[in-house]
Amino acid sequence: MSVHEMVDDGRFSFEAFTRHPFFTEVNRWIVERVICPGRRKIVDLGCGPGAVTKLILERLGDARNAEVIGIDPSPSALDKARAAVHSKVVEFIEGSAEWVSRLVSSADAVVFLNAIHLVPDKAQVIAEIRKTLKKDGVFAFNTTFFNGAYVEGTGAFWRRWIVRAVQALRERGLDIQHSEHAVARQFLTPQEYSELCVQAGFAPPSVDLVRIEMPPESIRDIGRFSLFIEGALPGVPLEEGSKALEKGLERAMDETGVSSVPRNWLECVATAA
Ligand SMILES: C[S@@+](CC[C@H](N)C(=O)[O-])C[C@H]1O[C@@H](n2cnc3c(N)ncnc32)[C@H](O)[C@@H]1O
Repeated sequence: MSVHEMVDDGRFSFEAFTRHPFFTEVNRWIVERVICPGRRKIVDLGCGPGAVTKLILERLGDARNAEVIGIDPSPSALDKARAAVHSKVVEFIEGSAEWVSRLVSSADAVVFLNAIHLVPDKAQVIAEIRKTLKKDGVFAFNTTFFNGAYVEGTGAFWRRWIVRAVQALRERGLDIQHSEHAVARQFLTPQEYSELCVQAGFAPPSVDLVRIEMPPESIRDIGRFSLFIEGALPGVPLEEGSKALEKGLERAMDETGVSSVPRNWLECVATAA
């Protein structure tokens, strides 16, 4: 089975991670700032299995004239979203941020949560999102894969996790493929994100950091998500990668005595100029 078939069979889904209360907190934080009754046409870009779509609907209450469009390139994530969200105002479409303006126009808000770090050409995608929006429309995104995510004193723990996972892989005769380290995995600073928004035609965005505490089970769950495994251990089959990340986590926690780990989420809201 190829890596892509495995991604699409849904076994390495993001869903388990979305059930942790802190994840709802970091997403609700931004959804509450951008979704309001005046914003009628809303795009949930990179909607995945639908956790953010649910928060958008919760925030809209009974706004019957709203239109929510969930877009994601993963058919298996969309299947999960369709099974989890039942609402007449929601439609799920297969698609990608790189050409979102061809799928939707004149949107009041584009919400792109926990996904922008996965995009290789962020300038192109932010310009595309600008094209999708009306003037005065808002673009909201968040991510914890940015330069500034590690709370002081925790960087060593995160690095040790991956080092120990690679060690566990090597013990099984496997290794990562360094050449596959993608540009998409580069961590941008909040300032760099801000500049990209301004270059794409947005007013200077509001930028906040929300600090949460990640319990060990949530770290284990992110280590079972296909896109995280591919980013952390490039070229490794998902089954082997997830096992190695679990073993690496156990070792890093034993060695450092760390269990729950604080981490920052970057929360950014930009208005189309
Ligand atoms: C970590 S999940 C986040 C899902 C959801 N937004 C949430 O916060 O619960 C990242 C999602 O981004 C999607 N994705 C990856 N590359 C994308 C792209 N270029 N355009 C749109 N979505 C993308 C993935 O398929 C995946 O479902």
